[in-house]
Amino acid sequence: MCMFVKSPAVSDLIAREIDASGPISFARFMELALYEPGDGYYASGKVRIGKQGDFFTNVSVGAFFGRLLAGQLVEVWERLGRPGDFTVVEQGAHDGTLAADVVSALSELLPGGFRYLIIEPASFWRTEQEKVLGRFGDRIGWVDDVSRLPRFRGVHLSNELVDALPFHLLQSQGDGWRELMVIRAGDGFAFQSADTDVIPPALPERPEGVLLEVRPAAVAWLASMAERLEAGMILIIDYGYTRENLWAEHRTRGTFSCYSGHRRDDDVLSNPGSKDITSHVDFTQLADEAGRLGLGVEGFADQHHYLVGASETYLRSLEGSAPVGESRKALRNLQTLIHPESMGRQFHYLGLVKDLPPPAASGFRYARGTAALLESVAAMRVRA
Ligand SMILES: C[S@@+](CC[C@H](N)C(=O)[O-])C[C@H]1O[C@@H](n2cnc3c(N)ncnc32)[C@H](O)[C@@H]1O
Repeated sequence: MCMFVKSPAVSDLIAREIDASGPISFARFMELALYEPGDGYYASGKVRIGKQGDFFTNVSVGAFFGRLLAGQLVEVWERLGRPGDFTVVEQGAHDGTLAADVVSALSELLPGGFRYLIIEPASFWRTEQEKVLGRFGDRIGWVDDVSRLPRFRGVHLSNELVDALPFHLLQSQGDGWRELMVIRAGDGFAFQSADTDVIPPALPERPEGVLLEVRPAAVAWLASMAERLEAGMILIIDYGYTRENLWAEHRTRGTFSCYSGHRRDDDVLSNPGSKDITSHVDFTQLADEAGRLGLGVEGFADQHHYLVGASETYLRSLEGSAPVGESRKALRNLQTLIHPESMGRQFHYLGLVKDLPPPAASGFRYARGTAALLESVAAMRVRA
């Protein structure tokens, strides 16, 4: 189990910034705590994912997840007319495990060629990824920032990227919203409410004190990806909901939390740099922005429904060839991923497309969420 390691460098840095320029937004606090080069939780290499680490993701379950996704990528390649320059872009690749799983499967499925590009700003993780992916030679490439990504035809893939993008914290005053800013308090930090220029949610009045998260960084991120995608799909995999669910009346304190050593806590201001900070993804926000950017919503499904559709295609391709032991392991992994009481319902897949002919991805064959997501976008636009 990963022990709680205090990261004084990040705390000092945040304290100095507040001393110099006054209270900072929680989004800025999170940016420093997670991404400050060298010391931030994600930038430093402290984060460990999996059984011995801070939290599990789909990738920790096993190579089966990557293989299922590879089948979905092949479908996009077919729909694009089997282009020779087919490119998969992954962002949030961590230690390169998912990339290795996807690339080994794709190497069998697309022997004609493809390119796998990773957007990795942290030099520590790029070095780790190079070790794991070196065996694939020049099929793999890296850029350190979206701005250096060439325009591409193919798929942008991310698993648990958006939930890790910085967010602002808003608090209801009954007849309006104020923002929780971070100030110094003794050796640590505290919240102080202030006027905000973050666009408040178009919601009926909420009781005083209700908290929610707003993530403009997700809009900026999607815009930058849409600009670079010439044709193909942006496949966003993450935990989260439509706005109706995310901002439902029963949710009075948002969804933000921290993870360290598989322990969850709500104390987002303590020990910055030593633990993950996250909140659920607002899929209505992403689908709404997609419309503005000229992207279509191909499907929105929970993991349970998505992977059942995706595995049908995958298992057909294995017919007669999979050794029994391998099938058993694959079945166990699939059960973990799709279990309706855990990962199966929390995780969602949003497929956003540009110039991509039908048929829709088999992963969205049983999608139950698409209509609800589009209705959620329409309702939000009426309220705004
Ligand atoms: C919760 S982890 C998920 C890691 C991995 N995808 C998985 O599912 O196991 C979030 C990852 O997103 C990365 N990340 C956050 N913002 C990023 C950005 N702008 N560009 C590239 N990676 C980013 C973090 O460094 C971290 O590796």
